[in-house]
Amino acid sequence: MEKLKRTLTRIDNKGYKAYKDLEGKTYTFPDFELCFYYVQGDPFAGPSQAAVRVEQKRAQFPPATYEPKIRKIALGDYLTRELSKQIKRVCKGRRGTGKSGLLAVDSPGQEILERSSVTVNKEYVEARFFIGLPARGRKVLGKQAEEMLFTELPELIKRTLFFSALDRNPLINHIKTAENQESMRNELREKGLVAFVANDAILPRRSGVDQRPLPRDQAVTFTSPPSLEVELSPPHGEKILGMGIPGGITLIVGGGYHGKSTLLRALERGVYNHIPGDGREYIVTVEDAVKIRAEDGRRVCKVNISPFIDNLPMKVDTTTFFSEDASGSTSQAANIIEALEIGTSLLLLDEDTSATNFMIRDERMQRLVEKNKEPITPFLDKVRDIYRDLGISTVIVMGGSGDYFDASDTVIMMDHYYAYDVTGDAKRVAEDYPRNRASEGGEGFGELTPRIVGKKGLDPVKGKKKKISAKGLYNIQYGAQNLSLFYLEQLVDAAQTRAIGDIINYVAEQYINESITLKKAIDLAFHDIYEKGLDVISPFYGEHPGDYSLPRPQEVAGAFNRLRSLHIK
Ligand SMILES: Nc1ncnc2c1ncn2[C@@H]1O[C@H](COP(=O)(O)OP(=O)(O)OP(=O)(O)O)[C@@H](O)[C@H]1O
Ligand SMILES: [Mg+2]
Repeated sequence: MEKLKRTLTRIDNKGYKAYKDLEGKTYTFPDFELCFYYVQGDPFAGPSQAAVRVEQKRAQFPPATYEPKIRKIALGDYLTRELSKQIKRVCKGRRGTGKSGLLAVDSPGQEILERSSVTVNKEYVEARFFIGLPARGRKVLGKQAEEMLFTELPELIKRTLFFSALDRNPLINHIKTAENQESMRNELREKGLVAFVANDAILPRRSGVDQRPLPRDQAVTFTSPPSLEVELSPPHGEKILGMGIPGGITLIVGGGYHGKSTLLRALERGVYNHIPGDGREYIVTVEDAVKIRAEDGRRVCKVNISPFIDNLPMKVDTTTFFSEDASGSTSQAANIIEALEIGTSLLLLDEDTSATNFMIRDERMQRLVEKNKEPITPFLDKVRDIYRDLGISTVIVMGGSGDYFDASDTVIMMDHYYAYDVTGDAKRVAEDYPRNRASEGGEGFGELTPRIVGKKGLDPVKGKKKKISAKGLYNIQYGAQNLSLFYLEQLVDAAQTRAIGDIINYVAEQYINESITLKKAIDLAFHDIYEKGLDVISPFYGEHPGDYSLPRPQEVAGAFNRLRSLHIK
């Protein structure tokens, strides 16, 4: 600590590069160790990265707060939020030029995710910060740096990284809520369900760009239709009642603006655990559920979409379908096949974001445009095969076509934001108004073809350097290309996006070879992350990046599939 003080005095008013003296050094304070992993070369450059480590002897977090793993994830998530909150209270903030005075941790949203920002284990608690070392112009402001590192930082640590300093109830509640959700998600399979929406949940969000809940007095809270009501038994607290969506094919119908898409979006995000107060805490969906949508313009690289589409104009091969500019129907077909390839047990579709001709083809259209002139077998004719042959369930929002009644097991109607079970009514309507459309697509779902990825095109070089940088939630600069993940609707945290960029590179370097499938390569990377933690994906392993959160294999595969430079052997 004294040495750090002396260094700051010595470099005061020198050129900014003098701060580089701190890089790679560890300084011992009375309560913690401070280590600078990376020091910025310029006040305008990306901020410096440092970590603070408090020995568990002092921090005194009881093992029950970080074992088993789900608690460790929840505690790390909680402490990250707490740090964020306390930084606003304790730190003066920006001062001087560029990023001067900045002290920050990663800032989480509504989901409880595994994060690299805070780690807790038997030995220590470690928090990782971004620090804008202060400057005036390009000169070191030693006194300001001293204030940051010797006053603000220790105060912040004192308030957040010691168990005794923390407010007990919200911390325990955060952990219990996460553990309940995890356990309820596991309970789904035992009960033959694919999703669960608890009574009293709040589904609508504040706005299209704000994931916080609509205030309770403005929302209709959820109530299960009696016939679909089930009870789950989380480990903490009372049993929870709500709507269980059984395996099979489920339709969500209802009038426009009555809450159909809102319910589906809640299911999409039910693959993640939510923070207390989110309103969706007890909405859980099987963890590998994938939202499917049309995405015309995307690139598709040698995907076997023949179960849905064959006989394209110009004799384009649909068993290894390739397009730099896929159409609505072909992009949606590819999205489904790719979801099956990486693994899923539930598909989620909304008519709002689907290609109409991919979803339905009615009797009149069958008469006007004969099957030999229509390459598409609509999803309607495949949805049962997907369940019967592959055991994969589907939930579809479909307010526009009753043709799906025959194919479905459960029909939920949204009416003024209330849910009703109208399965019986829908079956009666289907009997009273039989359709004359012919089934298409033959027997069975069709063939699935695993793909082997080539190494070519996966090196993220730009000029002579490697360049991987995430920009917000949806964009990754990967080498010279801009990878857009805008249509991966289950990507929820910019820290996941950062991780995805580095995971692509990690998979490419470690596992892509002549004979490995895309799924296998991604699975191996996730195994490493599971064993060694998120740090393993950093290209500067050992430098402790503080801003990753764990994505799902589904989104990582989604990113691979959207790389414009992807090669399939
Ligand atoms: N339970 C609820 N309480 C209050 N507002 C809600 C509730 N559910 C949804 N909303 C709001 O109602 C509006 C319409 O919801 P949503 O988009 O789900 O309708 P929809 O049935 O999918 O309509 P469309 O058929 O036009 O696509 C949204 O602004 C949404 O936030
Ligand atoms: Mg809608």
